[in-house]
Amino acid sequence: MSERSDLLSARGLVKRFRSRSLLRGGQTTIALDAVDLDVHPGEVVALIGESGSGKTTLGKVVTRLTGLDEGQVLFEGEDLFAVDRGELRERRRSFQMVFQNQTANLHPKMSVREMLDESLRLHRPGLGEGERRQHADELLDRVGLLPRADQRPASLSGGEKRRAGLARILATKPKLIVADEPTSGLDAAIKLQIIDLLKQLKGEKLTYLLISHDLGLVRRIADRVLVMLKGRIIEEVPAPLLGQTRFHHPYTGRLMRAADLARDRRRPPRERRDPPRVTRPDEAEARGGCVYSPDCALAERLGILSRCRRERPPAQVVGESHWIACFGAPSELAEEDE
Ligand SMILES: Nc1ncnc2c1ncn2[C@@H]1O[C@H](COP(=O)(O)OP(=O)(O)O)[C@@H](O)[C@H]1O
Ligand code: SF4
Ligand SMILES: [Mg+2]
Repeated sequence: MSERSDLLSARGLVKRFRSRSLLRGGQTTIALDAVDLDVHPGEVVALIGESGSGKTTLGKVVTRLTGLDEGQVLFEGEDLFAVDRGELRERRRSFQMVFQNQTANLHPKMSVREMLDESLRLHRPGLGEGERRQHADELLDRVGLLPRADQRPASLSGGEKRRAGLARILATKPKLIVADEPTSGLDAAIKLQIIDLLKQLKGEKLTYLLISHDLGLVRRIADRVLVMLKGRIIEEVPAPLLGQTRFHHPYTGRLMRAADLARDRRRPPRERRDPPRVTRPDEAEARGGCVYSPDCALAERLGILSRCRRERPPAQVVGESHWIACFGAPSELAEEDE
């Protein structure tokens, strides 16, 4: 597992949601179940996993956009949940979030250029008016929005809004970007532009927590991949090994196969937000042990299902910078779990 990082380091994160709906009868969802996370300066850490596995919640907790039930988040060594509101605002200059719904970050009454100017004024107070203007135009050019500089968000397409959001992020030079599905819902050409931009940003020594089910994007720009399932991180794998090693957690293997199948079926251009669930939503049963146990064919085949249901599997190192949370031995994992 990773060393403690000097940029972002989270330990034992627990986040519960209590449903108020009559149908669900006050049921509690454990969105994060004792999650540890380290992000080192200059690296891109990707979070993958099916819908509902807790990726967005983790992104929100480590930026304190949502509260925490247990655990600690250190940003540059400082406890993010211990700082007061004023200090938090100051801290927020260091990290930026890109969300699926990029429109929420855009001011409806301002043109793209005005928004960039505002960001520059806030985050780079040393720049004069002329320099700000020049810098804003450079950024707009970079994201291909210079001809649309005087438009307000309402007259921009989905892809243009996304690019405007990225230009704002470039303007603030944050230390950490949490990008939640930055390419979802975009058509292929715009998606490539966004990937190029993200790569450029990476080249500028930015650090990302990249939440994406787009395995092509993840392989292209991530250094490390964390696989989430039902509120837990169940595998950490170097990005180049994703789908290339035989030693994946049984769930990761299934996720890879599901992604390949979806690609083969030639999805419509407006792809879905997340991969479909490949596990059943019966978490309460498995909480004490491995969250994959209700669906794991390997456990049945190895005859270890009762142990898997009872005990939480610890991280098992299966290669360099590569671990999985599973009781199966590497040689057993290598055999296909169907
Ligand atoms: N505001 C909320 N209120 C209640 N439940 C929530 C809320 N946000 C997330 N959840 C639940 O927490 C779990 C994790 O959700 P989320 O973090 O959005 O997963 P992902 O981003 O991986 O799809 C899901 O079961 C989801 O229904
Ligand atoms: S710990 Fe058991 S149930 Fe969980 S993935 Fe491994 S073999 Fe399957
Ligand atoms: Mg999400």
